[in-house]
Amino acid sequence: MRIAVIGSGYVGLVAAACFAELGHEVISVDNAVQKTALLQSGEIPIHEQFLPELLARHRGRRVTFSSSLPDAVRVSQAVFIAVGTPQGGDGQADLSYVESVARELAGAINDYKLIVEKSTVPVFTHDWIRKVMLLNGASRDSFEVASNPEFLREGTAVTDFLFPDRIVIGVDSERAATLLREIYRPLTDGTYYRSGDPVRAPEGARVPPPLIQVSAKSAELIKHASNAFLAMKISFINAVANLCESVGADVHQVCQGIGSDSRIGPRFLNPGIGYGGSCFPKDLLAFRAVARECGYDFRLLDEVININEDQRVRFLNKVRNALWTLRGKRLAVLGLAFKGGTDDIRESPAVAMVEMLLNQGCEICAYDPAAMERAREILPSTGMSYASTAYDAARGCDALLILTDWAEFAELDLERVRAALAYPIIVDGRNLYDPAVMGARGFLYYSIGRADVQPAARIMSTAR
Ligand code: UGA
Repeated sequence: MRIAVIGSGYVGLVAAACFAELGHEVISVDNAVQKTALLQSGEIPIHEQFLPELLARHRGRRVTFSSSLPDAVRVSQAVFIAVGTPQGGDGQADLSYVESVARELAGAINDYKLIVEKSTVPVFTHDWIRKVMLLNGASRDSFEVASNPEFLREGTAVTDFLFPDRIVIGVDSERAATLLREIYRPLTDGTYYRSGDPVRAPEGARVPPPLIQVSAKSAELIKHASNAFLAMKISFINAVANLCESVGADVHQVCQGIGSDSRIGPRFLNPGIGYGGSCFPKDLLAFRAVARECGYDFRLLDEVININEDQRVRFLNKVRNALWTLRGKRLAVLGLAFKGGTDDIRESPAVAMVEMLLNQGCEICAYDPAAMERAREILPSTGMSYASTAYDAARGCDALLILTDWAEFAELDLERVRAALAYPIIVDGRNLYDPAVMGARGFLYYSIGRADVQPAARIMSTAR
């Protein structure tokens, strides 16, 4: 199948590479000429596992890059829209990029095209795309609009695409359904997994994945409702963690107990300093805004958002409880990315915490394996420094804070950390360590939803 993917951001680029991997001929289109040139020359602007391998395999053969939307659309049977839908006023999604693509598409189509929304968009967007295309001269029977939401996580986007829990197609005609089913056939009939050199399956992958066919409206709601539900799970467990702190229970024991109920499940129940990233915060606001516009006050979402924001303030208080006063304290911060495995700092709770601590007069020395360059661009320089290892960050500090769940932060050489710190104090916003172990290793250890731990032996400043 010949496919055009409009927008070569994180979703568009991953989709283009993965469609090529499934055997389709793909043109990835972006109006940023410089970015297109970069992609043509073999560079990749995002940090995503397996993407370099897939692009190396298919670039110039099954995937090409272009800045001309009309040229790409004319030769394609399906056109996926994967442009940005940033946050606009009042939390609503700003759909101006989608609208301008729809206008351009109207002038470019020469025969029947299936237009597919891949970006995260509010319900009714497919209808608006159709209306805009009709208003701009496209004839009624020359196109249809479908919705095919993605459920890709940053860091594992390629395997999420190729080994999905489900594929959702939102279509309002048999013709559109047949085309989309054809595009995903190598996954749904399992031929991709039996092919010569498929991408390695992640643990627990269910193959072949089911394909769920629904109306376009339902598909649009599925995307927003999925992200809202996952965010709700996180806020729920954070609220439970707060209660655990009040009564002296252990949130991980509670998680084990509730997560083993197959109706609840154990995933996305990790307590911490709250969710962030380019999706959850924006999508929750957009979902709430669209519900309100449609006459429903989705108050549950307000509370999910409030708990998430409170979680940061509670963590700041935790640091204050560990250190008494904050002004002038030198703190080592491990993690700036919004989650481990990415260099993305958009809406990062770690960055928000650093800003709050700087405002309190702390000095911060931060280390992140991938996100320091980006963080440097937005964080103030006064009071802020960066280290090239976790141990360098810890050197001479009054305490160490863990703010992002990078795998390497869970495997620190604790002796080295203790020796580097001025005081053996760790405030862990991601619960990466066992409190009993930390006490035995001589730390004052504070985490989320578990009792604070004093060291087994006498506390001593390690630096003097
Ligand atoms: C999220 C969804 O997981 C994807 O399914 C969706 O496709 C994507 O948004 C999107 O709409 O594009 P992503 O933003 O990459 O993916 O990140 P997640 O892995 O979902 O994590 C989001 C935030 O929640 C992070 O800050 C993470 O640290 C936090 N989190 C996650 C927790 O605090 N606890 C958890 O148990 C899980």
